[in-house]
Amino acid sequence: MEPSNFFICCILLALGVVGAQESHERYNHLFVFGDSYADTGNLNKGLANSWRLPYGITFPGKPSGRFSDGRVLTDFIAKFLGLKSPIAHAQMKSGANKLRYGLNFAYGGSGVFDTVANVLPNMTTQIDFFQKLINDSIYTALDLHSSVVLVSLAGNDYASFLANGGTNQGLQSFIPRVINQLSINLKRIQKMGATKVIVTALQPLGCLPRITQSSSFHQCNATQNLAVNFHNLLLQQSVAKLNNETNSSTFFILDLYNSFTTVIEQKGNPKGKLKFDTPLKPCCMGISREYSCGSTDEKGAKLYTLCSDPKSAFFWDSSHPTQAGWKAVYTILKSSLAQFF
Ligand SMILES: *[C@@H]1O[C@H](CO)[C@@H](O)[C@H](O)[C@H]1NC(C)=O
Ligand SMILES: *[C@@H]1O[C@H](CO)[C@@H](O)[C@H](O)[C@H]1NC(C)=O
Ligand SMILES: *[C@@H]1O[C@H](CO)[C@@H](O)[C@H](O)[C@H]1NC(C)=O
Ligand SMILES: *[C@@H]1O[C@H](CO)[C@@H](O)[C@H](O)[C@H]1NC(C)=O
Ligand SMILES: *[C@@H]1O[C@H](CO)[C@@H](O)[C@H](O)[C@H]1NC(C)=O
Repeated sequence: MEPSNFFICCILLALGVVGAQESHERYNHLFVFGDSYADTGNLNKGLANSWRLPYGITFPGKPSGRFSDGRVLTDFIAKFLGLKSPIAHAQMKSGANKLRYGLNFAYGGSGVFDTVANVLPNMTTQIDFFQKLINDSIYTALDLHSSVVLVSLAGNDYASFLANGGTNQGLQSFIPRVINQLSINLKRIQKMGATKVIVTALQPLGCLPRITQSSSFHQCNATQNLAVNFHNLLLQQSVAKLNNETNSSTFFILDLYNSFTTVIEQKGNPKGKLKFDTPLKPCCMGISREYSCGSTDEKGAKLYTLCSDPKSAFFWDSSHPTQAGWKAVYTILKSSLAQFF
């Protein structure tokens, strides 16, 4: 190759590399508000099974406060953006370096409103935590401009509503209240300076193992999924209205409903790399209904059973996907994410 050709070739190559990196570096931080689908370690270690074995056995190799054997939604979104998964707000220490990828304010068990475990920060309080950091100039509105926000919650609002004796009929008026509050919160996040906000559509709650257990993990509860569909419809309308009102495309719905349903129906992801023979059956279960994954007796003996390979299961425990489950869901969502960014 002539020296001059060599020169041109390598400048082009270098430009190509820079171009590829730029698409990732446009977003510098990820901020997360949510529940156990997004939490990466905010819950108190004494309170949550997510800090006990066998949680975390696949990644990072020990319990980390994630409700899975490994990575959760937040980790996959961070990966998509080319960022490290942001640290949990509760584990925040001084030293700005750790804050450079953003922060995760999601608490397992929390909701838009207070849930059964009402000691947990609801979404409003999670945003207050963030507001405080902006007030203290830890982050600026400019930072938010080059950030992505992930919002993933509401399942616990409905679980709490039903656990408190709420009826299916009552749900019809409770759902619009949840959406209304969620929409107020989204507006607030936008006012703070956010320009890219991913909001998850609710997963098919009627397919969670805690619900399908009564059918030996064979059938989703259609009544519950109908309610979820109503939530998702109102969410879609509300988000369309917010985008329209602000003449922007700030908000984007990440469809956990269809992606979960597709993986469950196809017993894996469409390209067939991940296979789940019994997709509704969780890998880790309490030995009876009183116990859950991670439970032990006073002597430390396990009160749960574990499947031989978490990669073969879509669900990890009674409510949460395995890392492989999230990966299958992520492979379906990737193209719609790419369209948004
Ligand atoms: C969220 O929690 C705070 C603090 O406990 C409470 O004052 C507020 O009413 C709650 N907000 C909603 C929308 O439930
Ligand atoms: C942030 O600052 C505003 C304006 O000074 C104040 O009204 C608000 O209470 C502060 N919020 C937090 C969470 O510190
Ligand atoms: C589905 O869930 C509802 C509660 O939302 C319950 O009343 C109903 O019995 C369940 N259906 C089946 C078939 O388990
Ligand atoms: C968007 O807002 C404009 C008014 O600002 C209204 O005319 C239009 O119908 C709205 N579109 C949708 C899809 O809501
Ligand atoms: C909304 O955006 C469109 C296209 O960018 C522009 O033509 C229109 O004037 C904007 N409307 C408002 C109300 O800002």
